[in-house]
Amino acid sequence: MRLEGKTAIITGAGAGIGEATAMRFAEEGAKLVLADLNLAGVEGVAERIVSQGGAAVAIAADISKEEDAKRISDTAVERFGAIDIVVNNAADFTTFSVEDATPQHWQRVLGVNVIGTAMVSKFAIPHIKARGRGSIVNIASMSGIIAQPNFATYNSSKGAVLTMTRCMAMDLAPFNIRVNSICPGCIYTTATEREWTRMGETKEQWSARQAPLHMLNRVGEAREVANAVLFLASDESSFITAAELLVDGGYCNK
Ligand SMILES: NC(=O)c1ccc[n+]([C@@H]2O[C@H](COP(=O)([O-])OP(=O)(O)OC[C@H]3O[C@@H](n4cnc5c(N)ncnc54)[C@H](O)[C@@H]3O)[C@@H](O)[C@H]2O)c1
Repeated sequence: MRLEGKTAIITGAGAGIGEATAMRFAEEGAKLVLADLNLAGVEGVAERIVSQGGAAVAIAADISKEEDAKRISDTAVERFGAIDIVVNNAADFTTFSVEDATPQHWQRVLGVNVIGTAMVSKFAIPHIKARGRGSIVNIASMSGIIAQPNFATYNSSKGAVLTMTRCMAMDLAPFNIRVNSICPGCIYTTATEREWTRMGETKEQWSARQAPLHMLNRVGEAREVANAVLFLASDESSFITAAELLVDGGYCNK
């Protein structure tokens, strides 16, 4: 098992890519601290893992709040005695053009996606340093690379996550801590379900529009992203840091 003996924090683990990552990490033997705004959702994921013989604790947290970000690491150390891996996955999906966005929209999306990612990492880093090695995986997006109509707020936040990842990788390399980001394309999750509902479309209608934008001519599954997170979290990627891994079915290069 690739994560035997490792403790991992996963934010936004109550649904979508975070949930799939939690299930994938549990299969590989990790002890898990699963944080989400939605306590019921993340408790359900933790209960499934425990019922299958794994180790997981669920905690309610809003990563944009400093005290909640600290509580995630405190819980990991109290419960499992260490932190080896952080997956910064939780995100806010506020999407507006610059013309339409208010300061509150910007504060929300940057507060969660950029500052929240930074705060969760900040409180975990001293504990990872104490282990002598570790891995941080930031879930960015293809939206951090490309332009999309009326997405300036969200895309700017994901661009910042990509830059922050490279800076973290440089600062933490002396401590044998690798930091990488993943850029998913369109993936079926609760977030994309909200998107097709907002557009007044069915899943099939939305998929028919999105699929051809990807070279592979389909939308991705959360587990396909989770497999990439597992690779970057595990020792199989031991010489990879400051990388941006596209898991986008070829979207960005089409
Ligand atoms: N689904 C896609 O097509 C897609 C594409 C590119 C990137 N991503 C990225 O993947 C990640 C996961 O997205 P998803 O599609 O699984 O989303 P999702 O909405 O299905 O799940 C996100 C989870 O994060 C939680 N969350 C939101 N804000 C939070 C906060 N402030 N504190 C703690 N938890 C919070 C939600 O409650 C939810 O359970 C995000 O970083 C997103 O930007 C998704």
